Amino acid sequence: AYAVTDNCIRCKYTDCVEVCPVDCFYVGETMLVINPDECIDCGVCEPECPADAIKPDTEPGLEGWLALNAKYAALWPNISEKLDPLSDAAEWDGRTGKLETVFG
Ligand code: SF4
Ligand code: F3S
Repeated sequence: AYAVTDNCIRCKYTDCVEVCPVDCFYVGETMLVINPDECIDCGVCEPECPADAIKPDTEPGLEGWLALNAKYAALWPNISEKLDPLSDAAEWDGRTGKLETVFG
């Protein structure tokens, strides 16, 4: 499966949702997540993210993000249509440790 990671937080560009063939993105206030059980590993969303936030589970150290994606996919509503990015997306793009700013 693929997972949405740190750099989505406070950017939330949502380009990813338009290309997913199985509509397995879920939307929270500051980020999106992928339901890893629904993701078919097609990989088309990865290059669509302007923030480079989508990673495959073959990437080392992704376990925590996969768990976070699975957890919130069960709680948040599905999203399949693009929204406007968050207003300060450009300012947050590329910062590190964004997870702590929302869930910490
Ligand atoms: Fe959807 Fe494919 Fe991305 Fe999985 S890898 S979230 S199925 S677009
Ligand atoms: Fe987030 Fe990138 Fe999608 S910033 S909403 S994973 S396009």
